[in-house]
Amino acid sequence: MTGDTDSNRRTDPADDSDTDSKPRARSDSESEPNSNSEPQPQTDGGTATGADETALDPWGSSTIADYESLFERFGIEEFEAVLSEVPDPHYLMRRGVIFGHRDYRRVADALQNGEPAAALSGFMPTGEPHVGHKLVFDELIWHQQQGAETYGLIADLEAHSARGLPWTEIDDHARDYLLSLLALGFDPEDGELYRQSENRELQDLAFELGIEANLSEMDAIYGFDGGTDLSHVQSVVTQMADILYPQLDEPKPTVIPVGPDQDPHVRLARDLAARTRYFGVAKAYASFETDLEERALIAAAYETLGGERADDPDAEDVRCAHAADWLTESPGTATDAERGVPEGSDQPEKDAADTDEEGPREQAIEKLEAAGKEPLRPRVRFLDRNATPEAFEALIERAPGEKRVYEGHIDSFELDREAAETLAREVEIDHGGYGFVPPSSIYHRFMTGLTGGKMSSSVPASHISLLDDPEVGYDKVTSATTGGRETAELQRELGGEAEECPVYELYAYLLAADDDEYTKRVYEECTGGERLCGGCKEEAAELMREFLADHQEKRAEAEELLEDLDIELDSPRR
Ligand code: TRP
Ligand code: SF4
Repeated sequence: MTGDTDSNRRTDPADDSDTDSKPRARSDSESEPNSNSEPQPQTDGGTATGADETALDPWGSSTIADYESLFERFGIEEFEAVLSEVPDPHYLMRRGVIFGHRDYRRVADALQNGEPAAALSGFMPTGEPHVGHKLVFDELIWHQQQGAETYGLIADLEAHSARGLPWTEIDDHARDYLLSLLALGFDPEDGELYRQSENRELQDLAFELGIEANLSEMDAIYGFDGGTDLSHVQSVVTQMADILYPQLDEPKPTVIPVGPDQDPHVRLARDLAARTRYFGVAKAYASFETDLEERALIAAAYETLGGERADDPDAEDVRCAHAADWLTESPGTATDAERGVPEGSDQPEKDAADTDEEGPREQAIEKLEAAGKEPLRPRVRFLDRNATPEAFEALIERAPGEKRVYEGHIDSFELDREAAETLAREVEIDHGGYGFVPPSSIYHRFMTGLTGGKMSSSVPASHISLLDDPEVGYDKVTSATTGGRETAELQRELGGEAEECPVYELYAYLLAADDDEYTKRVYEECTGGERLCGGCKEEAAELMREFLADHQEKRAEAEELLEDLDIELDSPRR
């Protein structure tokens, strides 16, 4: 971990390069020479670049390795793998700007089938919204247009506690974020905008979720320590509540579009969602309880010993003792479970050392031996996690067909896994539980700053604010660094390096909008040496000027809409 974990120190609100208040994910691999270049970039409205300062490549070649480490170390999945299941994908998805996800498939499925789904993201009002934030606005609006219930929130409690911003400034910026979101097409009739500070229901949920988390976790996940102020901790549980808020009226697949810096929050929210559930649903083979790893071993024994002959009435039962013998005699190759990859877990892999001593194999053998002659029979198990006694009774009642009831669990021989999940959720909700679906996320690449390096709210020349005068925007583009060669001659000969070029990024992320052909043409002309930077920047600068003028006109039109919304623009706290 980084040495400077003085996480309670307030930082200059204008300084978003601060590392103190950033969520930091821990991973088990050894730290890099420069421990500040952990793969978790910093929090900046989800739009800061990673600390590694490498240029980003929307077409996915030269610097993909940085993103790959997110896949390997944190289990973020590649977006490309779900792309084909997304109805009418947004250009940011098609171009690989949205590069990763967790569990997005369930959201894509819901959108595809016209089932309930939600999207939510939040913005810390620490500065003016800029072109990096526009990515997230667009992602939200796209989900809204695809039929998802969509939420945009102002993380004012977080800005106040984690960044020490005064309420007057927060109010100004909050207004600016909301206006841009509306100007870009967010439909407030068909979605919800809120401020954390104003949302009582949200804060109640945060309080409840706080029961499921503790300070050691805050340390492990964020590097919080004894000096961390409590409001900062509270802003974390508030964000957990934000993420689950869309499910308060009804559980539903929910996507959180963010930068990868927010992944630690997403993982914690997924854990907390699971911890509030009344019942766990798992497969099982015998009456005793097992953990995931033991179960995988018993499943392997069951399959090998002829579980597949279960339909054959003459086949002999596979008994627990047989499975114990098999596991003793044929260590075979280690299963995933033994290698310490817990099924369905978001947490990084365990060290091999953790699984050494009393391994899952020994444990499984012990349990199987104790069960002796009991036949192995696949079943679905409801585990009592947080169920009220009434809910547990109700589940017994409502589980159809053959079932057995034990001390802390109920086994059903009739339900399949999906039906069991549905029933468990129904019973939970009927008895006052939330029934949360684990929230999903999608991750976008960070934009490179116009001056190279990271795009930062505190360095005006590095970004284009959505409030920048169109002429200023024009000038910033014409003075941007490029991926061009030293001379026009070399450029013609070698071609430009579009992948290293912030101007090319502007085309791909924003200026070309939905026009893939245009993006491709710029790329090919650049790398083929037909395009020179002067003209290319001029073209981009003009588009930027147009975009800003148009956006600001729409912002002005959105003023009225904003006034009519039920959202407090002048905080009573100021
Ligand atoms: N922490 C986020 C940031 O740094 C803001 C935020 C608050 C958020 N609540 C959220 C983002 C919920 C996504 C979902 O900008
Ligand atoms: Fe960038 Fe355009 Fe120059 Fe290519 S030609 S390096 S895209 S500015």
